[in-house]
Amino acid sequence: MKVCVIGSGGREHAIAWKFSKSSNVEKVFCVPGNGGTASIGENINIPLKPPFVDLIKFIKENKIDIVFVGPEKPIIDGITDYLEPEGIKIVAPTSNGGMIEGSKVFAKLFMKKYGIPTAEFEVFEDFDSAKAFFEKHTDWVIKVNGLAAGKGVIVPSSYEEGIKFLEDVFINDKFGDSGDKVVIEKRISGFEISVFVITDGEDVKLLSVAQDHKRAFDDDKGPNTGGMGSYAPVPFVKEDLIKDIMKKIIYPTVDGLAKEGIGYKGIIYAGLMVDDKLNPYVLEFNCRLGDPEAQVVLPLIKTDFFELSQATAEKLLKKINIEIFEKFATVVVLASQGYPEKYEVGKEIKGDLSEKEDSIVFHAGTTIKDGKLLTNGGRVLGVVGIGNSLQESISKAYKRIEGIEFEGMFYRRDIGKKALERLL
Ligand code: GLY
Repeated sequence: MKVCVIGSGGREHAIAWKFSKSSNVEKVFCVPGNGGTASIGENINIPLKPPFVDLIKFIKENKIDIVFVGPEKPIIDGITDYLEPEGIKIVAPTSNGGMIEGSKVFAKLFMKKYGIPTAEFEVFEDFDSAKAFFEKHTDWVIKVNGLAAGKGVIVPSSYEEGIKFLEDVFINDKFGDSGDKVVIEKRISGFEISVFVITDGEDVKLLSVAQDHKRAFDDDKGPNTGGMGSYAPVPFVKEDLIKDIMKKIIYPTVDGLAKEGIGYKGIIYAGLMVDDKLNPYVLEFNCRLGDPEAQVVLPLIKTDFFELSQATAEKLLKKINIEIFEKFATVVVLASQGYPEKYEVGKEIKGDLSEKEDSIVFHAGTTIKDGKLLTNGGRVLGVVGIGNSLQESISKAYKRIEGIEFEGMFYRRDIGKKALERLL
């Protein structure tokens, strides 16, 4: 069987790697891929823009059996809407399914309609009404409606900061079309988790529960990033809480999407806040795997990934008995000095990056030039450790980092630390 992975980050290297472990898969193509996916299969440069004509031609000519989409952008741009009618099997929701991530307003109204627990909220379309509301709710969170590369949410630390954000949205037009509306929602405190499921629109399988580390520096300091590290599963999320999340959030979401007539075949990534009474609330939905979370969620899946993907695309997920290894995985992201702001690329990466029994190095921003592996992005590598306990997986990831270097390399030294403290 031949598969095609769409995207170019650490998540896509992890997806391509997972497919390569399937005895069903003879060839993995990546569009466009990165320095890591090049060593698993073949990287292909095809523009990923609607109406995806060149991609469709390539998939048909190469008789590709399954397409798996990594990032949200092509999903929201309608990749499935264009590919599926051509008879191509694809794991990714249609663009209207992508709205769970592409529009915060859609997601909040959907949750309200289907009784899915989420923070109280109001929607605003202009500066004056948003400002008037925020003046009375200065500790609430402001979110722009559309995609904003992780910069569209603010938990204001002062009245001035909140008003400045609203000015940026409505007056300075900093977010373009994504800032057509804002959601202002009540702040919920507790601990954050990321729940990953795969669904064919009817049946649903839990993949894992992970935790992300969004800030650039140790102790959750510094600016927000795409994610500096992650681990799975979360040892203090017990069976009862998982059952509650499935019952109150995941099943009603899948049912609600079906009732809305949305053909959802793919990943649902629910970003949740769990309060001190262990009540889960949805902070946001994403229509894809997380990055770097995919790098810890995928290695823990025991079930053949091609069969899982095929069953999803063919709406036969009920036939799959999902199995997950009883292990832990931790990923530490090695980033370029300056990320998430300005950084340099083109630095040579040195060290043994080959796969070991208990560690894998996934490439994110890398490229190969004149036979050398060079940095080519802010997040460069994801170093994964796998162990029988969270502590063991963390130790294995950090041990592996000792043998890797590039100029300007930095990483957090506390991935998983808070979870370990919580277990004491
Ligand atoms: N790591 C967060 C995300 O993928 O959205």
